[in-house]
Amino acid sequence: MRLGESTTAVPARVQLRYSGAVLVRPRRNRSRPALRRLLRETRLSPNDLVLPLFVQPGEEQRTPIDSMPGHARLSIDLLVEKAGEAAALGIPGVALFPALADDEKDARGSASSKPDGLLQRAVRALKTAHPELLVITDVALDPYSSDGHDGVLIDGRIDNDETLPLLAAMAVSQAEAGADLVAPSDMMDGRVLAIREALDSAGFGEVGIGSYCVKYASAFYGPFREALDSAPRGGDKKTYQMDPANVREALRELELDEAEGADWVMVKPGLVYADVVRLLRDHTALPVAAYHVSGEYAMLRAAAEKGWLDYESCLLESLLSLKRAGADVIFSYGALDAARLLQDA
Ligand code: PBG
Repeated sequence: MRLGESTTAVPARVQLRYSGAVLVRPRRNRSRPALRRLLRETRLSPNDLVLPLFVQPGEEQRTPIDSMPGHARLSIDLLVEKAGEAAALGIPGVALFPALADDEKDARGSASSKPDGLLQRAVRALKTAHPELLVITDVALDPYSSDGHDGVLIDGRIDNDETLPLLAAMAVSQAEAGADLVAPSDMMDGRVLAIREALDSAGFGEVGIGSYCVKYASAFYGPFREALDSAPRGGDKKTYQMDPANVREALRELELDEAEGADWVMVKPGLVYADVVRLLRDHTALPVAAYHVSGEYAMLRAAAEKGWLDYESCLLESLLSLKRAGADVIFSYGALDAARLLQDA
């Protein structure tokens, strides 16, 4: 008898038996489109999405962003139009980021709380044209700072406590302009509390705080910084944004943001930190948001331009994966495309 040869012939069917039961066939549940539709565990909808938009001064101005095909800095009139498309497709909100000229930036980012600043004017125009559409504003100094940092730089260091009142003033001025939620993305300690107190004492108890709770020091923000010309002029953001290697620290940030009064907590970037999205989902009753960031969007677009990936299906799969990981809200530059595809589906 040769090695491996058995004395009794075993029929192929018996070999397919599993633990003595009949052969288990998971493929049966995948066999027909209607069945797959019925059994789908996660469903993506335009209701899950927030569209980030960049605003610039001027009128009828559109400056394409090379590394983010399909996106441009828009003057307020065109921004209002674009936001109208989002609203018509059932997207509940937009997130706004201002692109200021260099001569409007200074060390303390003082343009950030001007009542007639670019962002404030954009918020007013959006709320007038599309009152139902949520306007979410970013709270951080970087688009306004001549140093390109989220906090104030004093003697070469980011001064946390000097930054807090500036963030609070920025949030109040955004609320005055009509923002529905302010979204601090600066990662200073204590900012959620400082902003909550300032909003409440200014009479904006109904304005929410969508905290960028777990924000990593990520190279995937590259295209965004190109869009706003907001890259740090010196150093990096590692003394305030989190180390990509850390995850226990995310729970610590979560605990603090909950205690300080955040209305939702965000993980950013989203795709490459889907494990962290799941972790937060399992540890909080607050809504969890995930940001499919500029670099994650640019990768899809670049590969698609080369004919290496199918943009539309990879976009939907990426957003679905964030939802499956536990995100209730997904910020994505692909939100308009996704909403259109979901309507056709
Ligand atoms: C600024 C801010 C950044 C993003 C959102 N808010 C960039 C940064 O922290 O440098 C990144 C968004 C993206 O890459 O899509 N505080």
